[in-house]
Amino acid sequence: MGPGGVQTGLSPGGIFFRMATVRELDAKGGPDVGTGWRAGLLALGAAAAIAAAGVAPAADPERRIDALLSQMTLDEKVGQLNLVSHGPPLRWDDIREGKAGALINFNSAAEIARAQSLARESRLKIPPLFGLDVLHGFRTQFPVPLAEAAAFNPRLSRLAAEWAAREAAHIGVQWTYAPMADLSRDVRWGRIVEGFGEDPHLGQVLTAARVEGFHAGGLTTGVKHFAGYGAAEGGRDYDTTLIPMPEFRDTYLPPFRAALGAGTMTVMAGFNALNGVPNTANPWLLTEVLRGEWGFEGFVTSDWAGIHELLAHGVARDGAEAARKALLAGVDMDMMGQLYVRHLPDEVRAGRVPESAVDEAVRRVLRVKMRLGLFERPDIDPARVDAAFPTPEARRAAREVARETFVLLRNQGDVLPITAATRAIAVVGPLADAPRDQLGPHAARGHAQDSVSIAEGLRRRAEAAGIGYRFAPGCDLFCTRTDGFAAAVAAARDADIVFAVVGEPQDHSGEAASRVDLALANRQPELLDALLATGKPVVLLLVAGRPLELGRFADRSAAIMTAWYPGTEAGTALAEVLFGDASPSGKLPVSYPRHTGQLPMAYNRLPTGRPTLPNNRFTLGYLDEQVSPLFPFGWGLSYTRFRLSEPMIARPRLGASDRLSIGVTVTNAGPRAGQEVVQLYTRDPVASRSRPLRELKAFEKIALEPGESRRLTLDVPVERLGFHLDDGTFVVEPGEIQVFLGTSSAADPVGSVEIVEELRLRPGERRAAALRSPL
Ligand code: BGC
Repeated sequence: MGPGGVQTGLSPGGIFFRMATVRELDAKGGPDVGTGWRAGLLALGAAAAIAAAGVAPAADPERRIDALLSQMTLDEKVGQLNLVSHGPPLRWDDIREGKAGALINFNSAAEIARAQSLARESRLKIPPLFGLDVLHGFRTQFPVPLAEAAAFNPRLSRLAAEWAAREAAHIGVQWTYAPMADLSRDVRWGRIVEGFGEDPHLGQVLTAARVEGFHAGGLTTGVKHFAGYGAAEGGRDYDTTLIPMPEFRDTYLPPFRAALGAGTMTVMAGFNALNGVPNTANPWLLTEVLRGEWGFEGFVTSDWAGIHELLAHGVARDGAEAARKALLAGVDMDMMGQLYVRHLPDEVRAGRVPESAVDEAVRRVLRVKMRLGLFERPDIDPARVDAAFPTPEARRAAREVARETFVLLRNQGDVLPITAATRAIAVVGPLADAPRDQLGPHAARGHAQDSVSIAEGLRRRAEAAGIGYRFAPGCDLFCTRTDGFAAAVAAARDADIVFAVVGEPQDHSGEAASRVDLALANRQPELLDALLATGKPVVLLLVAGRPLELGRFADRSAAIMTAWYPGTEAGTALAEVLFGDASPSGKLPVSYPRHTGQLPMAYNRLPTGRPTLPNNRFTLGYLDEQVSPLFPFGWGLSYTRFRLSEPMIARPRLGASDRLSIGVTVTNAGPRAGQEVVQLYTRDPVASRSRPLRELKAFEKIALEPGESRRLTLDVPVERLGFHLDDGTFVVEPGEIQVFLGTSSAADPVGSVEIVEELRLRPGERRAAALRSPL
């Protein structure tokens, strides 16, 4: 707290100011980038960190940077651009010699403190920045990001990120390589698990929420992988991406821009080539768009050895050329390539890279360090450990988030939730007792022994309810053997309802885990057939980082719930939902395909000249499979029933600066309390280019008691109804916009509005508005 109890923060200029001033500035439309930066800094508690050190920065950061730069040798400058991992090739002495501006994978306070004290022995004592992949938890694991997206609840995304950051910051981590803002329409891509799915609006809302949450917990963020990485051809990780420009701007870029609006200070360039130019060497993307159009003032890091990969991409002959191209394109930091330290000094001396370009990159790195208050922050206490986690509060939060991420896809005859009349349940399947796998990929310092497994959670809850419990996994984790089947079938016969926990082990999801066949792997289908043959109702509980191909089990299972990778509290959270303590409220953040061969797919696809007609072969479709998804984007059932009624569009004619506003009454017409996600979609039916069949433009999650009704208003600025042209111009065209409201992307039409005023903005002209109001 500042004088007089007014909360203080740091302005981008490093001057203390009152919190109210931030709002005043924002209301007046202060410097556009500053809006995000200020928000980020305030949330990050930079002021708190400085207060803890007992000093305020002496001067304006830019002047301090000038002063530092004037003292730095070329090698020291390039050292600031070097991001090195714990272990080889790092020598601890590199830190003392000022050759490691940032460090990754230091995941204990003792090691961070050791590195910090070495940096204090360096000539200029510039603190390194400590980064780690903290995606969905540090020690306490929250559901994986795709799962968290299914909650359609930005408050929970913020909460999960804040907890992850708090735990990581406790041992001295300062920077997370998150959130991943890569939209993907192809669930073969294993990394879809790290993001928010296929929708740019959901992506913007959740990416911003995650940035805010990480900042609130004390980590600065590195939004990744800029950009288009999720469109890897064939769903093959690292493969090239070919994305038409209007679609790139309309669909793939907005979540990144939202991250900037929320104050992210670093951006990671993706591994992929975009339309033939690797991101790591793409000046249009990293300089023209990111810095020119969006006004980004932070720094860009490469991905792991991404600069070196320019050789394999075929755009650099050798390491020196790769380093030169990356730096001049706008990559400030070389993650684990060692090419900047090795080649940039010579490139400068040979006159192939202007020293001013190096200075500019160093300036951006130092700017972030200063704005974070690193120069004033005391070193981490080496005695700090993460063993204090997961605390009961963190577990409670992990449970709260997980509960809302489960998507009930099918519930024949209301077989769920388990009722008091149930005599016994059987829990089977390779992922029922998989305490490591339930954490999902990139589980930072998550420990399997902290996990409540699904089997354990259901056992405890069943016993508490006086319901019998049988457990037999049926097969090993990868389900390669059948010798456990008999015990699983016996357990099923003994029970009234069977929970079959199947899916993909953690290693089958995440980076470098693309798959061509999304059917349940190995002997899992045989296990399910054997369980179904008992005649008992079989509930599929899917533990996976993406939708799977369910084949015959889609119709034969009594109920299907996707639990994703729920994290440390998987068992307790799932038990609460399966036993009806809470109603499921998750919605699919990706379309659920019937067959892997349908991929890529997304609900917000463009129309064709021959829309699908049954019994007409010469329309859009496949000969051997339906063209529609098994479950659409936004789909998810509840134990209760919601009704939407009396939709009312506030104003039918809208100017470019108006808002499309629609009221609707939501009623819980069923027997239980529950939550529903009301979703508003639009379509521009006639435009200068084909526009998507539907686009999510707003959503709201609402909790209602049985019989309760509430009136909601969903609201979309007209500017968000526009789209980009080939040359990057953004247009809102006059004409009709159709409006749909519902509880999934199969929402009902509720009318239309007419836009009566054109808006046309050249690239960059949107900058101010877009950053002030990224959503
Ligand atoms: C991944 C990044 C990650 C980095 C550091 C890379 O392989 O693509 O997402 O942040 O490694 O671990």
